[in-house]
Amino acid sequence: MQLSEIKTNRTVLRPFSENDAIVSFSWFGDPEVMKFTPNGPDAALEDTVARIAHYQEHHEQHGYAKWIILERDSMKPMGDAGPMYFPECQHFELGYRLLPEYWNKGFATEVASAWVRECFHRLDFKILIAFTHPGNLASIRVLEKVGFKFSHREYLMGMKSMVYQLTSYLSD
Ligand SMILES: CC(C)(COP(=O)(O)OP(=O)(O)OC[C@H]1O[C@@H](n2cnc3c(N)ncnc32)[C@H](O)[C@@H]1OP(=O)(O)O)[C@@H](O)C(=O)NCCC(=O)NCCS
Repeated sequence: MQLSEIKTNRTVLRPFSENDAIVSFSWFGDPEVMKFTPNGPDAALEDTVARIAHYQEHHEQHGYAKWIILERDSMKPMGDAGPMYFPECQHFELGYRLLPEYWNKGFATEVASAWVRECFHRLDFKILIAFTHPGNLASIRVLEKVGFKFSHREYLMGMKSMVYQLTSYLSD
């Protein structure tokens, strides 16, 4: 099953293109947004260019990856989300990130739910994991709202982490 776009009520998600580097550096390079990302913010635009290339390679290999999130009405880029293979856990890991102006409006829950639906219903996933720093209360809340269950604590990529997993998904 090849996905090329996901629509939710308020967003559209699509694979990254090279042209998204400058706009997405506005969140990949933002220390506040990247506070709980193990390697921290991208220091320079070139880092975001390399990051996008990595997401594109992952997409080519698997058919999905972290994709850019656009606000559906304005088509303004607002963040990124999607599953990426995570070698340390040998599973796919769901991540999401938004520019701060979009926080606390339910967008991450909306987008994460959409990815979960695609993963379990169309892509035939059996398990999806997510991990977050224990201090990232907004992210923990998103995982709970989407139905992830806490699994264990572990250091991942050198970061103290809470690991969550989802093994089944009931459609709404
Ligand atoms: C984590 C993130 C994606 C959440 O996005 P969002 O669109 O604000 O999430 P939602 O609005 O769907 O849900 C946020 C929930 O967390 C709650 N929340 C937010 N800040 C909180 C805090 N400091 N303490 C407790 N709960 C908090 C909100 O009240 C909401 O829960 P509710 O619906 O029960 O009221 C966003 O904060 C972000 O981009 N952070 C930086 C990147 C990041 O950390 N990504 C996750 C890496 S694991």
